[in-house]
Amino acid sequence: MVTTHLPQTPEYDREPRGLQPVQDSNDSAATIKALTKENRILRKKLERAHENLRHIEDTKRNQESLLKTVISELQDSRAGLERKSNTLEATLDQLRKAQERLIETEKLSALGQLVAGVAHEINTPVGTSITLASTLADETEQFTTALNSGPLRKSQLTQYLAIAQDSAQLLLSNLQRAGNLVQNFKQVSVDQASLKQRCFELKAYSEKVFQSLSPKLHHHQWEVTGDEIVLHSYPGLLAQILTNLITNSLAHAYGPNEPGQLHLTITQRNSSEVELCYGDDGRGIAPALLNRIYEPFFTTKRNQGGTGLGLHILHNIITQHLQGQIQVQSDLGRGTHFIIQFPIPPEPTTTTIP
Ligand SMILES: Nc1ncnc2c1ncn2[C@@H]1O[C@H](COP(=O)(O)OP(=O)(O)O)[C@@H](O)[C@H]1O
Ligand SMILES: [Mg+2]
Repeated sequence: MVTTHLPQTPEYDREPRGLQPVQDSNDSAATIKALTKENRILRKKLERAHENLRHIEDTKRNQESLLKTVISELQDSRAGLERKSNTLEATLDQLRKAQERLIETEKLSALGQLVAGVAHEINTPVGTSITLASTLADETEQFTTALNSGPLRKSQLTQYLAIAQDSAQLLLSNLQRAGNLVQNFKQVSVDQASLKQRCFELKAYSEKVFQSLSPKLHHHQWEVTGDEIVLHSYPGLLAQILTNLITNSLAHAYGPNEPGQLHLTITQRNSSEVELCYGDDGRGIAPALLNRIYEPFFTTKRNQGGTGLGLHILHNIITQHLQGQIQVQSDLGRGTHFIIQFPIPPEPTTTTIP
């Protein structure tokens, strides 16, 4: 029978055991040999475990230092990014301010150009009127002298009357043009504060504008069709738009006493947009002139009171005040159509009085 003491502490912590009192020396030697072998194996395992532990600790240390490096690099790049985004925000802010200044300058220069243009344009009819008035004054003086110095021939009278009539006619049209220029210029620089915003029904209001122009619409038929839409907007601006379009049709689309058809169709495009389609069936506009009609001072009736400011004003009202857009379609000999679209302004918030 072999008695071995099972190890109380791990094998690798022990020294090889001394010889135990045995009954059989052969058995003891075999046991010692087995235990020594076991001990050797355990020592090797222990060494390997130590080695593994060292390796694990090394790897852990490496990973920790790698992690630290990564964290510090990340922190650095985050700080860098923050700095960059602050710089970008500042740049964006500067850009916005520069853009605002540019828009203001543009507006001022547009107004400046317009003022200079108006002054230049007024100069011509006023200058012509001065020449005409002084010619008329000279002719009248000569005529008075002739009248005072003896009997007057009929031809002298007829000649004077013809000159007086022509001069008066030309004076009238030139002064009319100067007057129109001043009137329109006043509209361009109109103080928008005087235009009140209120609720109105678009179709009924448009009909009123047509009716108010009816003294000029003797030879024309007109019709307003389409949706009934209540808008909270600027009726004054709508009146200016329609008046401009109608007076343009009367001035440019038809000959004197020539009959014509004018129509306006109002459509609600969706819950947020209105479309006005105005048209006449007159002469139309030549394709080459179509993209010039909104230019200030562009007119094909310069000698007949045209200022070329009507459609320029109209374009400004639609694009700037109503935030909308305008398109023109025209066929020579068949008429002109203007399509105006603008967003429906939001309803004012109504407060309920308890
Ligand atoms: N309904 C129209 N039919 C034909 N031509 C038009 C019409 N409306 C505008 N035009 C052309 O556009 C030009 C510019 O119009 P506008 O700016 O109102 O100036 P004005 O009426 O003083 O000439 C007109 O001179 C005319 O040639
Ligand atoms: Mg006009």
